[in-house]
Amino acid sequence: MSYYVTTPIYYVNGEPHLGHAYTTIAADVLARHMRQRGEDVFFLTGTDEHGEPVTQAAEKLGITPRELGDRHAVRFKQLAATLNATNDFFIRTTDPEHMEKVAQVVRRIHDNGHVYAGTYEGWYCPRCADFKTESELEDGNRCPIHKIELEIEKEDNWFFRLSTFQEPLERLYAERTDFVIPRNRYNEALAFIKSGLRDLSLSRARLKWGVPVPWDHSQVIYVWIDALLNYYTALSYAREDEDLTERYWPAHVHLIGKDILKFHAVIWPAMLMAADIEVPRRVGIHGYLLLGEHKMSKSLGNVIEPFHVAEVYGADALRFYVLREVSFGADGEVSPEGFETRYTTELANEYGNLASRTLAMLSRYRDGVVPDAAPAPRLQGEFEDLADTVCRRLDAIELTAALDEIWQRVKLLNRYVQDEEPWQLSKDEGAAEQLDQVLYSLAEGLRVVSVLLHPFMPGSAERLLAALGQEDLSLDGARLGAVGGGASIAELGQLFPRVEPPERSAA
Ligand code: MSP
Repeated sequence: MSYYVTTPIYYVNGEPHLGHAYTTIAADVLARHMRQRGEDVFFLTGTDEHGEPVTQAAEKLGITPRELGDRHAVRFKQLAATLNATNDFFIRTTDPEHMEKVAQVVRRIHDNGHVYAGTYEGWYCPRCADFKTESELEDGNRCPIHKIELEIEKEDNWFFRLSTFQEPLERLYAERTDFVIPRNRYNEALAFIKSGLRDLSLSRARLKWGVPVPWDHSQVIYVWIDALLNYYTALSYAREDEDLTERYWPAHVHLIGKDILKFHAVIWPAMLMAADIEVPRRVGIHGYLLLGEHKMSKSLGNVIEPFHVAEVYGADALRFYVLREVSFGADGEVSPEGFETRYTTELANEYGNLASRTLAMLSRYRDGVVPDAAPAPRLQGEFEDLADTVCRRLDAIELTAALDEIWQRVKLLNRYVQDEEPWQLSKDEGAAEQLDQVLYSLAEGLRVVSVLLHPFMPGSAERLLAALGQEDLSLDGARLGAVGGGASIAELGQLFPRVEPPERSAA
């Protein structure tokens, strides 16, 4: 089966931050997990480079929007690489192939009769170079961003007949109750549709930075229409001599933050219907990472800056933290202190120490070879449905719940080793078989959790599996007892070493 997962394309008007890293991490977990299941995966991320905000930010810096795009697209590419994301392509909306395809699709929407000329009248902010809706205004007529008083302006635009898609959208939602997940976001989108849809301005006359409207070069296509189409256009040119559209469209899941729900859950499917293109299977919504004010932490200062954290603690620790700390789908606070606590108590102690203790005991008591035994019945039951449960959770885009299922087993293995006290068993010759079973069960348990953790923490899981003499990452093998004894173990070193706070200069 093919599986196509996307992140939003990120605006290039600023530097990447943890909020951007979050969606990329989540999409990468799904992509890696589906590859483990043997699916044919395509994972897309990229940058959104046209439109008002980018033009404005560039103007402020005294450079062209293209220069700004080039500068920041590199940073977003670096972010994906730093996070160890396995995206199969990185789209930029300034790619000529994307722009050409956008023009084609918009022309089709036009030729299908869903576009008309009209006049847009509304509150216009010259600083945003954008119209504001009544509900966005502050104190009557002020721009919520620039706080200046706005005036009503008029602009001749091309309009997309979004209103005529109200019924088809309602039908889509009725037929596919998992089109938007989680459920509260589905309800929110459906309520928005039912409240009545207004036509949408499809072009901008005041702006030059964008894809020209194919039948009217005095206007450019509205940046959101241009941006949403990236999910579709990328497949047509991501590979030089192959059009991947047939193979991967419709997308399996678009992962997005809750702030851009309306665009993805309402406008996007309507646009696709208007262009006779199949709608995606799902839109998966996550909440916000709240980066509140915090007291200074020892090594991170008071921000979680993704490049810095990945450099100091490793990408795996960051990937683990954001998915573990905040229940995927909901909003939640993140903080440097919270990060350091989880790094120490969970990664270094619960997982890292379990691994080094197990390897040390295997080498001390069994000459570095995993003994052959049956898994302990006490663990067997707890591991029984684990892989299936993780698959089900991830199919439902419940990333935190999936990770928690695995982590409960990490904790269980810690309790197991405490209860069984292999160091005592080693003193009693009559307990050799029991010691075999304990050591085998620990090695096997660590193997299974590591295979399942691999999408979340690919580097660490791979290192640990290599130390256990294991290479197979497929989910078929993620069952306790699937691999027998006999493997020779290798050196691991510290999976999650202690991080010293930076030296404070006395100056
Ligand atoms: N360019 C548009 C998306 C176009 S997709 C066709 C855009 N870009 S963005 O850079 O502003 O945001 C991209 C994603 O990052 C959004 O899904 C947004 O929710 C997410 N995040 C930005 N800050 C965030 C947090 N603090 N927490 C979690 N994610 C948030 O919107």
